[in-house]
Amino acid sequence: MSHDHSEPESPLAKLLNSILMLGAPVFLLAMLGLTGFFFVAGMGEKDEAAPAEQAAAAPAAAPSGGAGAPAPAATPVVAAAAPKAAGGKPEGVTDAFWDLGKSSYATCAACHGPDGKGLQAGPAKMAPSMEKSPILVGDPNGAILVVLKGIAKENMDFMGIMAGLGAGLNDEQIAAVLTYCRNSFGNSAPAITTEQVAAARTKFAAVNAPAGVKRADIPALIGSAQ
Ligand code: HEC
Repeated sequence: MSHDHSEPESPLAKLLNSILMLGAPVFLLAMLGLTGFFFVAGMGEKDEAAPAEQAAAAPAAAPSGGAGAPAPAATPVVAAAAPKAAGGKPEGVTDAFWDLGKSSYATCAACHGPDGKGLQAGPAKMAPSMEKSPILVGDPNGAILVVLKGIAKENMDFMGIMAGLGAGLNDEQIAAVLTYCRNSFGNSAPAITTEQVAAARTKFAAVNAPAGVKRADIPALIGSAQ
């Protein structure tokens, strides 16, 4: 039996294999699951943050002994409420298009993270959160422009550099992935069509931004006050 099984060259390769082949999908699913849970649980996260900090600070200041470990406030919210908070496939979008967007998001997840919150890389993040990003959920042309041309790195806020992905993704993939992002991670915005991306490719063909477009230039480039 074991003769058929070809061994990886080294324990390290073996480990890497298991991490890549098993770890990544499991991690992704786990993160998607968690994200979904928190979306369904509603916007309670933010409201809890402040009391949680106070609770954590209090026992440190009070000399009254170690029994007062602050239990995190339980969130007894059940998955029945707030069906709209998580966004989800907009009306008129086919399952195939939505699935294409979801699978194409793997390209973005490398930096923006499986949960869309920006992948943590040590103390910093690779990329900003997708949640409520004005560029993402605003004028479709702004989001398309950033994906086509990339976005300039103007400070050290993020570790990643987003190059233009216009050569690697076709119009349908860009439309689908943006539709997916605009309706995931707490966002809810109209779908972007393949035709809109095709038109934007033509419109922005002359935009010469080898290091990505600057944020400040986006409104002028798309010709609207955003
Ligand atoms: C190699 C890393 C990387 C990849 C891959 C990547 N991005 Fe980004 N993205 C960034 C970084 C970094 C920024 C912010 C740039 C800055 O301000 O320094 C950014 C910014 C953005 C923004 C603007 C967010 C805002 O602040 O409002 C959008 C929208 C966006 N990315 C969408 C995408 C989509 C969609 C994909 C996949 C098709 C993708 N990105 C892939 C790194 C990446």
